[in-house]
Amino acid sequence: MLKASCKLDCRAVEAMEAALYELAPSNWYVIENRLNGNGFLEGVFENQEEMQLAVKELESVSPIRLDLSQGLRTERLEDRDWKEAYKHHFQAWTVGNFHCIPIWEKESYEIPENEIGFYLDPGMAFGTGNHETTKLCLESLVDLSSEGGKVDPTGKSLIDLGCGSGIIAITAKLLGYDRVDGIDLDPDAARISSENAALNAIDGIHFRACGIDQFEKTDCYDVVVANIQTDVLQNLSEEILTLANKRGTVILSGILKKEVKELERHFLELLSVRKMDAQVEVKNLNEWSLLGIKLR
Ligand SMILES: C[S@@+](CC[C@H](N)C(=O)[O-])C[C@H]1O[C@@H](n2cnc3c(N)ncnc32)[C@H](O)[C@@H]1O
Repeated sequence: MLKASCKLDCRAVEAMEAALYELAPSNWYVIENRLNGNGFLEGVFENQEEMQLAVKELESVSPIRLDLSQGLRTERLEDRDWKEAYKHHFQAWTVGNFHCIPIWEKESYEIPENEIGFYLDPGMAFGTGNHETTKLCLESLVDLSSEGGKVDPTGKSLIDLGCGSGIIAITAKLLGYDRVDGIDLDPDAARISSENAALNAIDGIHFRACGIDQFEKTDCYDVVVANIQTDVLQNLSEEILTLANKRGTVILSGILKKEVKELERHFLELLSVRKMDAQVEVKNLNEWSLLGIKLR
């Protein structure tokens, strides 16, 4: 195993996080020093060839020129180190009274009385909840579906498009949604999502390896969540809207703040062509935005 790393200044950290989001899932990750904003890009690979390919792929989506071939340091890793590496980047977090806990903290983490905890082993799939785009989705979903929210999840349905680790679908099931489905282009993500549901003894979520455009719906959903990058959301906007019920809610994330106005305009135009009325809201967290569409 090989570990590659290079230093990033604060401007590069932000740009690299956006590039990695576009590339996800990948073996790269960014470690940021929260005090000065600088950081490191790191990646772990089977061998030199795999690393070279990953460097090329990363350079193709990176908006800034990073001379990876010059600044990149490599070191050999024991197999054991590699299997543990991703664990450093997943910390327990809470939204509302939900606690998302790394499975390796199961014994040590104390869930406060009357609050709900679930365990996750994301492996290489995206979705620890530590990323802003996932946080925005989960906060919206919990706000929408908890007491006082607009949707009482009892008897309601939700689909998680691009389910990654399954974190959104699992939270939905714990919130009380009745029918929950999750799909992901990446077969590993669909498998990891099912494993994470089993880890929490949650039955009844149907995870499938399939792209949004290949998904054959049997019915519409009360809530559609898609945390995928902006160009995919825009290209598949017809398919995404078609999955929502007449009075359904669509939660779109994975959008850079600078892209949200254009995506909002695109969806409003599509809604108007379809003669559909909706209330649209934007939420921001750091450089990321969420677009919420409540059909009416
Ligand atoms: C940023 S991750 C989101 C993971 C998780 N839902 C979360 O919120 O943390 C995006 C996921 O979407 C999947 N994906 C990308 N394009 C897709 C498509 N066209 N159809 C289905 N899944 C897709 C990727 O494989 C990846 O697992």
